[in-house]
Amino acid sequence: YLNYQVPRTRKEIFETLVKGLQRLEYRGYDSAGKTPTYSKKGKVKALDEELYKKDLLDLDEELSTHFGLAHTRWATHGEPSALNSHPHRSDKDNEFVVIHNGIITNYKELKKYLNTKGYEFESETDTEVIPKLIKYVYDNRESDNISFSTLVERVIQQLEGAFALVFKSRHFPGEAVATRRGSPLLIGVRSKYELSTEHIPIQYNSEVQERNSHNRPDCTNTLNFVGDGKAVEYYFASDASAIIEHTNKVLYMEDDDIAVVAGGKLSIHRMNRQAGEDPVRAIQTLQMELQQIMKGNFESFMQKEIFEQPESVVNTMRGRICFDTNTVVLGGLKDHLKEIKRCRRLIMIGCGTSFHAAVATRQILEELTELPVMVELASDFLDRNTPVFRDDVCFFISQSGETADTLMALRYCKERGALTVGITNTVGSSISRETDCGVHINAGPEIGVASTKAYTSQFVALIMFGLMMSEDRISLQKRRLDIIASLKVLPELIKKVLSLDENIKDIADELYQQRSLLVMGRGFNYATCLEGALKIKEITYMHSEGILAGELKHGPLALIDKDMPVIMIIMRDACYKKCQNALQQVTARSGRPIILCCQNDADITKNAYKTIELPQIVDCLQGILSVIPLQLLSLHLAVLRGYDVDCPRNLAKSVTVE
Ligand code: F6R
Repeated sequence: YLNYQVPRTRKEIFETLVKGLQRLEYRGYDSAGKTPTYSKKGKVKALDEELYKKDLLDLDEELSTHFGLAHTRWATHGEPSALNSHPHRSDKDNEFVVIHNGIITNYKELKKYLNTKGYEFESETDTEVIPKLIKYVYDNRESDNISFSTLVERVIQQLEGAFALVFKSRHFPGEAVATRRGSPLLIGVRSKYELSTEHIPIQYNSEVQERNSHNRPDCTNTLNFVGDGKAVEYYFASDASAIIEHTNKVLYMEDDDIAVVAGGKLSIHRMNRQAGEDPVRAIQTLQMELQQIMKGNFESFMQKEIFEQPESVVNTMRGRICFDTNTVVLGGLKDHLKEIKRCRRLIMIGCGTSFHAAVATRQILEELTELPVMVELASDFLDRNTPVFRDDVCFFISQSGETADTLMALRYCKERGALTVGITNTVGSSISRETDCGVHINAGPEIGVASTKAYTSQFVALIMFGLMMSEDRISLQKRRLDIIASLKVLPELIKKVLSLDENIKDIADELYQQRSLLVMGRGFNYATCLEGALKIKEITYMHSEGILAGELKHGPLALIDKDMPVIMIIMRDACYKKCQNALQQVTARSGRPIILCCQNDADITKNAYKTIELPQIVDCLQGILSVIPLQLLSLHLAVLRGYDVDCPRNLAKSVTVE
C-alpha cells in the first residue's frame, strides 16, 4: 500500500494492510508480518491481536510516512515462525526490506556468497538472500546516481526461481519498487480523479541510460492524473481480492517488469526491448464485487461456494449457449476453431481438481470431437518430457490461472509450437495471458482452498467446447441436443441435489470418526470418485481414495470388510451393469456401501447400507450432480472433526511454487 501525498493515520494504514492480508489469506496462512518488522506465526488474526495486545501501535498517531508492507506466508523454506515471516531485511537498520511470494531456487549459492562477504542471516528462508543481496549491490555501487529500480534489476538478474517482490529502502524515501517473475503481482490504482491514460508505456532502462546519466523515472512515461495529482494511492498485491474494496483499476505486471512508485507517480521499467513485446501495460477495470469475496450468511467460504453452484454454472453458460437455436459460441475460441479441428490430438493439462475436470470430460470430448484426448497432470507431464507437436492443441485448466506446474507446462508446449488454450477462472492471470486463446469460466472468485464451484464450471466449459466442435457433425446432432437440453435444466437439478444436505449431514455424523473412506465408481463418474476423495483428504485429513470400480478385483477389494466405509456411485448409464457387479463383490465381502444412485432404483437400494438418491441427467453431465454430495459430505466431516474448512493445514489456494 502506498500513498505519497496524503499520509494516513497509523490506524488506517494498519487496518488497510490487515484487511488486505485477511482477504489474501486463502493463498497461504502459516504466518504473517508487516513493516516495521512485527511478525507472528499462524493466521493474520494472530498478527492483528498481537499488534493490539502489545500496544505496538499508537493508533491515532499521524504517520510521517505513507507506506505499509504486509505479507501472509505459506512456508517453502523454513518452518512457519515469527522469525521466518516477512518482511525480511538487509540489516538491523532496515536499510532494505522485502516481501516475497514464490521460491528462490538458487538461494543456497547466493547465501554462501553473501556469507563470504560477511552477511549474517537471521531466518531459514530463501527470501532473506534478497534484501542482503540488494544491500550488497548498493554498498558496491559505482555511482551515487544509481536508481532504486536499477538496484532491483541487478538483484533479479541473480535470482532463479519464481518471485513477486516489493522493496522499500531508507535510501530512497518516497519510493517503492516491485517486480515479478513467475508469481503473480498486480498494481491497484486509486484516485478520486480520472486517470489521464489507460496505458503506461514501458521505459527500457538500457535506452533510458543512454539518454540520461541517471535513470530516474521519466515523467513522460509515468501515470499522471487529471486534477491536482493528489490523493493517489497505489496498492501492490498478489491478487485483486486484497484491494478490491479500495479500487477496481488494476494493472497486471508481466514477468521482469519493474514497477516504481516515486513522487506519487507510477512507471514501469524493463531492461531491454524484446522483439514483438507489448510496449505498454494497460490499466483494466475489474468487474469483481466486494460482496463476491465475503461469506455472507454462510459458515465458510466453501459452504457458500458449494451453494452458489446453481448460479455459477449459469454464469459459465451465460451468453454462450443459445437454447432456442441449440448453438454454442465460445468467443475466446471461435477464431481458432478451424485450427483446433485440424489438430492431431487434444492434451488437457492441470493439477488437482482442475485435472479431475479433464478426467471428467475426457470421454465426452473424445465422442464429440472425434479426436484423441490425453489428460495429464502438469507435474508428471513435465517430468516425462512428453513429446508435443506443432499440430497439438493443449488445454491448461486452472482455477487460479497461476499454478506453477500448469504454467510451466504451458510454456513447455508453447516452445514446441502447439496451440495453447486456457480454461481459467481468474481474469488477468498468468495462464489466461500467456495462452493463445481460451475460456473464462466466470464462476466468480473462489476463496475456499478446496475447489468446488470452479470444478463444476470447468466441467461445463469443457462440455461447451465439445458442443461447439461438433456443431456441424450430422451424426452427433441427437447427442448434442440431449446435452444442451440437459444443460438447460442443470441449475434446477443442482438445487435439488443441494436440498439433500440434511441427509448428507446425517451420513457425516456416522462417518466422521472413521480413519478411511473409499469412493468407487467408473465411466463418467470415475472423476467424481477422484474429486470426492481429494475433497475428503484435503479438508478432513481422513485417508480417502478414489477407486475405479473396474480395478476393484485387481487389488482394492482386499481392503473391503464390514468396517471399511465405502461410497459407491452407481448411476443408470452404460456402466450400470458393471457397477452392479462391483456392488456384488463388495457386499459379498460384508462391505456396507453408501450408494449414490438414481431416484427410485430398487435394485440398488436393496443392496445398499444407505443411499443418496440423485436426479438423473444425460450421462456425461451426471458427474456434476454426483460430485456435489461429496463436496457436502467432506464439508460436514471436516466441521464435525473440528477443522477450519476454508484453510486446511499445509495447503494454499494458489500454488505458485513447483
Ligand atoms: C483441490 C484444489 C487443488 C487445486 C490445484 C490446482 O481442492 O483446490 O487441488 O485444484 O492446486 O489449482 P488451480 O486450479 O488453481 O490450477
